Amino acid sequence: MKTDIVILAAGQGSRMKSALPKVLHPLAGKPLLFHVIDSASHITDSQLHLVIGHGADQVESAIRDSAADVKLAVQAQQLGTGHAVAQALPNCAEDSIVLILYGDVPLTPNTVFTSLITEANKGQLALLTVTLDDPTGYGRILRNHNNEVVAIVEQKDATPEELQVEEVNTGILAVHVRYLRKWLPLLSSENAQGEYYLTDIIAMAAADGVPIAAIQPQYEQEVQGVNTRSQLAQLERWYQQQLAEALMASGVTLADPSRFDLRGNLSTGTDIFIDINCVFEGDVEIAEQVSIGPNCMIRNSRIGKHTVIEANTHIDGAEIGEHAHLGPFARIRPGTQLGKATKIGNFVETKKAVLGQGSKVNHLSYIGDAIIGESVNIGAGTITCNYDGVNKSTTKIGDNVFVGSNTALVAPVDISANATIAAGSVITKTVEEGQLAIARGQQRNIIGWKRPQKRQS
Ligand code: UD1
Ligand code: CA
Repeated sequence: MKTDIVILAAGQGSRMKSALPKVLHPLAGKPLLFHVIDSASHITDSQLHLVIGHGADQVESAIRDSAADVKLAVQAQQLGTGHAVAQALPNCAEDSIVLILYGDVPLTPNTVFTSLITEANKGQLALLTVTLDDPTGYGRILRNHNNEVVAIVEQKDATPEELQVEEVNTGILAVHVRYLRKWLPLLSSENAQGEYYLTDIIAMAAADGVPIAAIQPQYEQEVQGVNTRSQLAQLERWYQQQLAEALMASGVTLADPSRFDLRGNLSTGTDIFIDINCVFEGDVEIAEQVSIGPNCMIRNSRIGKHTVIEANTHIDGAEIGEHAHLGPFARIRPGTQLGKATKIGNFVETKKAVLGQGSKVNHLSYIGDAIIGESVNIGAGTITCNYDGVNKSTTKIGDNVFVGSNTALVAPVDISANATIAAGSVITKTVEEGQLAIARGQQRNIIGWKRPQKRQS
């Protein structure tokens, strides 16, 4: 049967104290809501629905930008979770299972959703519950003497005995749409919070003889909602720990799994070493035997095998060949392609730079919009002057060129293979194959020069 997946995201999230709607706060670099959407999108033959209210404009434009196939329903006033689900109900199919999720509960695995849908397909109301040492704040699961779930009572409506119950409602449930069409209009707001509680449908199911199946997650964090920045940070750390464990299981050494951050997708070969405080963003591929020093940031890049990346190196949008050596303190910007056995040393910035095999830029240089051949040596302090204030131009350097220190290469400019550039040159014209180019003031030595003396006052 088809599944209509209704994600509730109309609440304010006032405890975040933020201009950003709560569901758009990132966890591992991705908004909470998109963790839910991505997990839910594994369910076949399903339609996503999102109930928006507070910050609706921002949430809606985030959905549009993502191109996710989501039907939006607006809940103008937040009158409760039951009322929220009712807003999406007209968009649901005639005959479907409705799976209700929360935009601020990011880490539920899709296998849990599938289990709930399977139970609901048997004609039951399937509820996801969890037992907590401290159930404060949650709706409590009430069971009869046969241990069957018969109702949920909210914290603010519960008796002292009911508050002793440690099994709580996660909010996530699945049930056939026909039951929601029957029960939701019957909800009343006569309770401590004056809200239409979705949780009141449990007692209605029990009264109608609809069996209630309760299933539990493997880990408490899988059903943890985010209400505060503190909870967000705790969930982030737990999630990162899971990612770190998976990496280690696949053959990566992490100097400290609690000081590792992945915000995207990381694919790895074996025998990779990653030192502390490295951050990986977007899509990153790292081949076998790569070593990464502490405090590196690597985003949307590919690193070839046996490459060494030293401390404090920043790599973004680059392709790094095998047996390369980068850093410490290198900045590799988008469009950089480093060939096999290349070296980029400290305080070197590259952007749209292609370096052939064995070429080196070891110290204090800026190489932008450059095509550099093989076995080229770029001396310390070399700058490609690629920008005239309006346009970017390219510097081309052939194989085996030697560029002396403190050279300015004013692009567009071509330096052919085997040429030598004298230190301190400002190169504005083509240098032909094998030539030496010197473009600097002549040295004069003044004989008998006397240094100024301190004035007597
Ligand atoms: C709800 C449950 C409670 C459960 C808890 C789990 C009800 C009545 N209570 O309580 O049993 O233990 O979640 O975290 O369902 N929302 C809307 N529109 C509304 C109200 C809420 O979209 O009018 C959304 C919120 O954005 C949020 C979710 O529903 O994502 C839960 O709302 P919240 O107010 O946090 O419910 P709780 O009181 O925590
Ligand atoms: Ca909540």
